[in-house]
Amino acid sequence: MTALIWTILGYLIGSIPFGLTITRALGLGDLRQIGSGNIGATNVLRTGNKPAALATLLLDSGKGAIAVLLARQFGGEGPALLAGAAAFLGHCFPVWLGFRGGKGVATFLGTMLALSWPVGLAACATWAIVAALGRISSLSALVAAAGSPVVALLLGQPRVATAALFMVALIFLRHRANIERLLNGTEPRIGGGRSGGG
Ligand code: G3P
Repeated sequence: MTALIWTILGYLIGSIPFGLTITRALGLGDLRQIGSGNIGATNVLRTGNKPAALATLLLDSGKGAIAVLLARQFGGEGPALLAGAAAFLGHCFPVWLGFRGGKGVATFLGTMLALSWPVGLAACATWAIVAALGRISSLSALVAAAGSPVVALLLGQPRVATAALFMVALIFLRHRANIERLLNGTEPRIGGGRSGGG
């Protein structure tokens, strides 16, 4: 029963579409009609409003972390894992947006940081390094996500690895169009330009 409650609460917390509400509140338009159409921080950055993008990144990752920390505090480690995965699902498939949500990267990072800070930190560091080298948000996300279950296993955390693997599979599915553009060399770089060009 406790697990079910925390799964539902996690989902509801994760389903708050911060990118969409922040850009709407600032009069920046409907994020779903801008850039990639995604509701995440990378696309908020394409509106040209850096503080809005940073706020989206912090809030989207924060909601994953909060879901885990609350569930752990009041329910224990099992509910924390479920709440984290549910928050991630809530971001990707929010009931408020007809289940058409984001790609889950920031929420994944926040969830991992709260589930196991070394795994989360490794993912954030990997994202930052790949982004600094290639300046492509989706590529950084895919590499950072893919490494997380491996890091969790190396640290002897099979339950975290399993939760991470589930989220990583979904992250890759949600990035299908990005992966196609990466392969074509047409994926936009952070701050402009194409991945295949310069
Ligand atoms: O976090 C989402 C990022 O990986 C890709 O975003 O807007 O470039 O599809 P976007």
